[in-house]
Amino acid sequence: MSTSEWKPPGKGDLRSPCPALNILANHGYLPHDGKNLSAAQITEALNKHLNVSRGFANFMARMAVYLVGSKGVCSLEDFGKHNVIEHDASLTRQDASLGNNIKVDPSLVDDLLSHAVDGRITIDTLAKFRNIRYEDSLERNKDCCFGMKQRKTAYGESALLLSVLGQATNQEVDVETAKVILKEERLPDGWQKGSGQVTFCDVWKLQSKIEKRSDEMKNEKKDS
Ligand code: HEM
Repeated sequence: MSTSEWKPPGKGDLRSPCPALNILANHGYLPHDGKNLSAAQITEALNKHLNVSRGFANFMARMAVYLVGSKGVCSLEDFGKHNVIEHDASLTRQDASLGNNIKVDPSLVDDLLSHAVDGRITIDTLAKFRNIRYEDSLERNKDCCFGMKQRKTAYGESALLLSVLGQATNQEVDVETAKVILKEERLPDGWQKGSGQVTFCDVWKLQSKIEKRSDEMKNEKKDS
């Protein structure tokens, strides 16, 4: 398969709870079957095709394969091991004890997109939807586990969404683009990289902003 071709997973192909890793596999930038991935392969794909700085990509990939894999390799499905990296209150997946924690739930994506601000997924959209997803998990999932580790991971993922996928559009993603990315797990035609590579520092700063905004929104709700 040529690498720029997009092909959804077929019978026997494995996928993860991470939209970005699935996109890379669906385009053939990672093995399409989602099996036997090494940290080096993931680093290369993140760096070359999503413009994540090599250092940051290498850090994430090594840490992840170490945590979920065995003998230096893992499958995309391994990333779904509950409470290793995967966690409750995801934006686009059900909690492990309520449903499928790996495959996207299109109704959750619709819900997320309905919180767009002027047709764009922004810091405020993600701050608000993170609170909604957390409250929903607390209410419906008696096994809900969302402590500091899960919280930091979840805000990190929201920051990755805006900084990596919105890198050429000032850290915002328009609704149509987000729909293609999150529902089809495809890079939309015309998706562009930014001028510089996305670093750990970029994501860290954005993560703090989204988390702070979530807390402000929670307090505003309490006061009203
Ligand atoms: C080695 C690199 C990466 C690994 C191992 C990884 C792994 C994961 C895992 C296990 C989850 C599931 C968490 C959950 O339960 O919700 C996740 C979610 C997510 N990842 Fe990645 N990821 C990586 C890189 C990226 C990059 C570069 C992006 C950039 C767009 C990204 C975007 C996201 C988003 C937006 C979610 C949240 C999905 C949701 O809450 O429904 N990830 N990732």
